[in-house]
Amino acid sequence: MADTTKPLVAILMGSQSDWEVMEQAVKQLNDLGIPNEARVISAHRATDAVIEYVKTAPGRGVEVFIAGAGMAAHLPGVISAKTDLPVLGVPLKGGMLDGMDALMAIVQMPGGVPVATFAVGKAGAKNAALTAASILGLKYSEIKASYSKFRAEQTAKAVANTIPGAK
Ligand code: RP5
Repeated sequence: MADTTKPLVAILMGSQSDWEVMEQAVKQLNDLGIPNEARVISAHRATDAVIEYVKTAPGRGVEVFIAGAGMAAHLPGVISAKTDLPVLGVPLKGGMLDGMDALMAIVQMPGGVPVATFAVGKAGAKNAALTAASILGLKYSEIKASYSKFRAEQTAKAVANTIPGAK
């Protein structure tokens, strides 16, 4: 049974401007009943603070990191450099390359320092949260049950779809 007074998932983002997207990860985790904490903490503007956060997070209960960043998106990689916990990276739109820059930065981690990379934007934030649920479900049966219920309900809704007027 997970200790619900401690955050199992840390959601980190490089800028306040990332919140509109990264909020989707928090909402999804909350819907599944997975305790979490979210912070704005920039790999470029506050590097020492990122390192301190990552070093102390496991002591507060964190078992999975979700990190969203745009442009030269170093945050997920810096986190992975300082932990052996799972790091789920979400590339964000921003700047003239519209998210392609962040996607290429996050997905191209050198061998040995892994970051699992998701879709650019809100779909990526949501799927990172669901993957965190899947990982934590291996250890916590109530999270596995909650995630399985979400997937079954999603499937039921998809199967029930009808097209108005169609025969
Ligand atoms: C990255 O630079 C952040 O993750 C953000 O997506 C991007 C732009 O940040 P701001 O200039 O809006 O603070 O570090």
